[in-house]
Amino acid sequence: MTQSTDAAPHGGVTIPHDALVAFTTEVFTGRGVPEGRARTAAEALVHGDLTGLTSHGLANLTRLYLPALDAGRIDATAEPEKITDTGAAVLLDGRRSLGLWAATEALDLAADRAAQTGIALVTMRDATHFGCAGHHTARIARRGMVAFLASNCGRQRIARPPGGRAAMLGTNPFSIAAPAGDRPPYVLDMSTTVVPTGKVRAAARAGEPIPEGWLEDAEGRPVTDPRALDAGEGFLRWLGGDPATGAYKGYGLGLMVEVLAALVPGAGLGPAPEALNGDGQPSGRDDDIGLTALVVAPGALRPGPDFDAEADSLFGSLLNCPPLDPARPVSYPGRPEELTAEHRRRHGVPLSAQCHAELTALAAEQGLGFPEPVVAQDGLPSAGVR
Ligand SMILES: NC(=O)c1ccc[n+]([C@@H]2O[C@H](COP(=O)([O-])OP(=O)(O)OC[C@H]3O[C@@H](n4cnc5c(N)ncnc54)[C@H](O)[C@@H]3O)[C@@H](O)[C@H]2O)c1
Repeated sequence: MTQSTDAAPHGGVTIPHDALVAFTTEVFTGRGVPEGRARTAAEALVHGDLTGLTSHGLANLTRLYLPALDAGRIDATAEPEKITDTGAAVLLDGRRSLGLWAATEALDLAADRAAQTGIALVTMRDATHFGCAGHHTARIARRGMVAFLASNCGRQRIARPPGGRAAMLGTNPFSIAAPAGDRPPYVLDMSTTVVPTGKVRAAARAGEPIPEGWLEDAEGRPVTDPRALDAGEGFLRWLGGDPATGAYKGYGLGLMVEVLAALVPGAGLGPAPEALNGDGQPSGRDDDIGLTALVVAPGALRPGPDFDAEADSLFGSLLNCPPLDPARPVSYPGRPEELTAEHRRRHGVPLSAQCHAELTALAAEQGLGFPEPVVAQDGLPSAGVR
């Protein structure tokens, strides 16, 4: 779950948000990504660290995006190509363009169209990894619209259908966001498996066990060693866990994403005959990802202030729900991340020691300066636990 703490992890540092975005922009432009596109992508990537969704933040720069750019699996300058345009629905070929940028473009296009038609869909094949789905949808909620974004994982297969022996699907994330009056927007942003791979890998890097319920072995028994995922000995479980506790709902949501985000645009599919060749172990690559962006513009359907007032009342009522524990007030998805982000925009973004070391090494390699840590009031850099 989202971290609420703001202290830099032990041995880590706190870096000003804008400086992190500027650094990340420079890294992308150094790899040939055009300036404006690089900045959009940098904002999407730093969003993970800014909001506490660190499994999809800067830790992925050296692990995922730069290797994919270097290998040509992401094309730094490719322009998505329009295949079909019906007005309210657009099909694009993403042409391996940088997903952190292309998802923002897809949602902006859908929002511009929805402002006229009330609803619009932009769907893309041959896309690449877009980071945190909620970063992209929240931007549209701030424009007063309701946004949905989903992505499959191309042909990457790491989760098995409940009761099945072969891995067939990815973590298939989606997000839906809506305005909440003057409050932070509602932003549900989640993998449809119990956790994304990034959280398992973060535990493996930290040498920590994972809770029972994230991974299972070939026979369905719980696995608490996170290294099992990349050793091919652990399968991610669906949200809900077991069939008796709702696994078919998580699995069904994963398939919803596969249908809307990949089957509709004609992207790579997880479940395919080749998934059954071999021993059923995790297989395939997250190339030819599909994504779908859908925007509803309430203002085009019911002009006037009613929608905004009712959204304000809806989310305000939830916040006023009496809590079980007075120390833990009731919230709604998206609010904890936005409150964290507001604080970090002012006071800096904590990075783990490992992430900081990776980024400073990258800076040295590319001949870039790395931003200085925020200096705390006692005059010491706000590094580590003080
Ligand atoms: N691009 C990809 O291929 C890919 C794949 C998987 C996941 N992801 C991303 O990984 C990120 C993390 O996913 P996750 O499943 O670990 O999310 P999570 O479990 O951290 O959060 C899930 C949802 O729960 C809500 N939530 C958490 N604590 C809350 C609280 N106290 N009160 C109210 N709501 C609360 C959050 O706002 C969020 O909407 C997401 O940004 C997701 O888009 C991306």
